[in-house]
Amino acid sequence: MEKKELVITIDGPSGAGKTTVSKKLAAKIGYRYIDTGALYRGIALITSEMGIKEDDESAMAEACESVDLRFVLEEGELKLLSGSRDISELIRTPEISMRASSVSALKPVRAFLTVLQRRLGEERGVVFEGRDMGTVVFPNADLKFFLDADPHIRAERRYVELKERGSKIDFQTVKDELIQRDENDSTRALAPLKAADDAIHVDATQMDADAVVEAMVVQVSSVQG
Ligand code: DC
Repeated sequence: MEKKELVITIDGPSGAGKTTVSKKLAAKIGYRYIDTGALYRGIALITSEMGIKEDDESAMAEACESVDLRFVLEEGELKLLSGSRDISELIRTPEISMRASSVSALKPVRAFLTVLQRRLGEERGVVFEGRDMGTVVFPNADLKFFLDADPHIRAERRYVELKERGSKIDFQTVKDELIQRDENDSTRALAPLKAADDAIHVDATQMDADAVVEAMVVQVSSVQG
């Protein structure tokens, strides 16, 4: 019998390890993986290049009409394209992280990306990583996880990641910005970061990514029956 193709959501604050875990889980069960934060980052980058202020809602709405964001898989890596331009690296700076958090509070941006994400889920067999995947975008997802970890550990992971990309940022700035972003993301009026009532909570403070993925695979098998 064919296994049921699921929609799996993994939400949680920044630096909890969502990206690593989502990628590994998707690879292990042969699913596609979609990083929805990259889409918010893409909008943040493109509108910054257009000179749009991050709180200019009507200019943001207009810009969303003209953006062409697409994911492509290249040698196993998920790349984000704006038209034909690969913006995967450009969206990973601390400035774009903060701007993505700000623009993600705007109604037209959320409305535009929610539609895009639902379309990406139509084929099923997908792991979606984000902040509101299980609460707003896919309230009927087959399996929902909420991945969290101690803020200090999350800041350490983000710091290592930024250093590997060649950033000169210091640890305290990374930690302060991460806490600021958590605050923005969880207190905004629209689709704030929170666990869905039916989400499975995973605390990754003391677990490495492989252990988290193992625990998730057990849940996937039980849902698939
Ligand atoms: O996961 P990330 O750090 O790449 O996300 C960047 C920002 O995008 C995050 O601070 C809030 C926003 N975001 C969102 O509002 N909803 C999502 N589903 C994913 C990200």
